[in-house]
Order: sequence, then C-alpha cells, then structure tokens
Amino acid sequence: MLTIDPKIEKTSTIHKYILGAVAPRPIAFASTIDNDGSLNLSPFSFFNAFSANPPILIFSPARRVRGNTIKHTLENVLENKEVVISIVTAEMAHQVSLSSSDFPKGVNEFEKSGFTAVKSEKVKPFCVKESPVNFECTVNQVISLGEEGGAGNLVICEILKIHINENILDSEKNIDPLKLNALSRLGGNWYGKATKDSLFQLEKPMGIIGMGIDKLPENIKNSEILTGNELAILASSENIPAKKEFPLREEKNITKKHILAKELLSQGKSEDAWQILL
Ligand SMILES: Cc1cc2nc3c(=O)[nH]c(=O)nc-3n(C[C@H](O)[C@H](O)[C@H](O)COP(=O)(O)O)c2cc1C
Repeated sequence: MLTIDPKIEKTSTIHKYILGAVAPRPIAFASTIDNDGSLNLSPFSFFNAFSANPPILIFSPARRVRGNTIKHTLENVLENKEVVISIVTAEMAHQVSLSSSDFPKGVNEFEKSGFTAVKSEKVKPFCVKESPVNFECTVNQVISLGEEGGAGNLVICEILKIHINENILDSEKNIDPLKLNALSRLGGNWYGKATKDSLFQLEKPMGIIGMGIDKLPENIKNSEILTGNELAILASSENIPAKKEFPLREEKNITKKHILAKELLSQGKSEDAWQILL
C-alpha cells in the first residue's frame, strides 16, 4: 500500500496522485474578459456542478507551483465577476489543449485555439460556438484556498442563462450522453470520451429500499464466487424472494450454484439468480 502524508510530500507529487485518483473529471472551458476587453479561454478540470437552486458551478484556477503566480482567468474573474463556462466535447480535445498554453496576457485565446466567439445575452465574456452547452454565469464569490503554489481558488459561478445545442438532445429533450460525447480529464496525459463501450445504465432504486448486503443469507454473503457488486444486485431486492419452481435448482453443489447465479446476474436475470441460490 502506498501511503502519502500531504504534510511531508512535495506538492507536485500530491497533485499527481489527486489527478490520477479523482478521475475522470469534467472540464470547464472558461471564457473570461479583462478590463481592456481581451478574450481569455482556458480549460479547468477542477470543476463540477454543486447546486440546482441556485444553479451553481465551481471551478478552480490554481496558483502555479512554479513561481506561485496566478492565472489570467482568475485575474479576469476578480476584475469582472463574469464567466461563460462551456462544456468540452471529445472533438474539441486538441484545440482545448492548445488553449491551455501560457499565452501572454492580452492574447485572444479564441483566435489562438481556433474557436468562434459568440456574443452572450447576459454577460460580457463570449460563448464558444463549437461547444454544445454554454453557461453564462455571474461570479458570486472567489474563495482562495491558500497563498502557496498549488493553492486552488474556488470560483463560485451562478448560472444566468444556459444555451444547449438541440443536436445533443434525444426525443424527450434530455441530453444524450453519446451525442454530447463530453471530454474528461484523468491523471498524466489521459483523457476520456463518452462512447458507447464506456457507458452503461443503472436504474435508480425508485420506490423500494433494498434489503442490503448484511441481510443476505450467510452462504450467499460469504460467497467466494460472487463479487460485492453481484451481491449488491441481489441485495437490492426488498426481501428474500419466495421459492418458485426452477429447474436449475437441481444443482446441489454450492460452488456450481454460485457460478450459475453469477452467469445469470451477468445477463441481467437477477430473479433467476435468486431462484438458483434459494
Ligand atoms: C484539460 C485541462 C484541464 C486543466 N485544469 C486545470 C485546473 O483545474 N486548474 C488549473 O489551475 N489549471 C488547469 N489547467 C491548466 C490551465 O488551463 C492553464 O494553466 C491555462 O494556461 C490557464 O490560462 P490563463 O492563464 O489564461 O487563465 C488545465 C489544462 C488542461 C489542458
């Protein structure tokens, strides 16, 4: 087991393990503007949504570890208290990476990275035409988490307007994750896409409260064949189901029963898996 004490370890090492472990992370493409009207556009993967009412997004431009300087995006939101956060798709990856270069202050980063600036309705910073979702935001607060290199600055953004390209919606006007194909960031140089083979659906446990793994019969709970995940599928039933006619129950060998149950669970047949285990 690798154990790390942040009080002893170098910031760069801690940073590396946080990035590797807290992954994949969504990416905020932050469009800001300085007092001279120069457009800035930079990606931030220390980012997420935190509230729907009020609608709040937070991202964190950190102090640079080398030189302990602050980023233009942070300077701009401190000056102007406005930002547009755009969602980054896999098709935008190389341009987004290019936009993260340390261009000097005043350089138009829309032009540098080849994105099209579209006038916003509520704020001065521009939306990104190529992004399917743009959030126009006012900055409610900036919370500095420290004065040393590597310290984050929480930019708390309240959404004033949301623009969603209809191309990413399904027939019920929900965002289709495959059409969005959001780019995500992991550790090192790794990025993720939201493609068919990397996504799956899991129904919400609506209405019922599962019995929980602690309530499973001992021989199931202590199975050497079934994983925690498989036990969780069985334990999502409210009660231990009643025994029904089930031909495969003829199998008496416990290991073989569990192997069969495992196979049925992998096919989504949890009721049959229960029957074989009863
Ligand atoms: C995908 C991606 C995610 C990034 N996430 C962050 C982040 O969360 N915080 C941060 O300080 N820098 C992050 N960076 C680096 C900044 O984008 C980079 O320092 C940028 O130059 C800042 O530009 P600015 O000085 O114009 O604000 C990220 C870079 C990339 C490519």
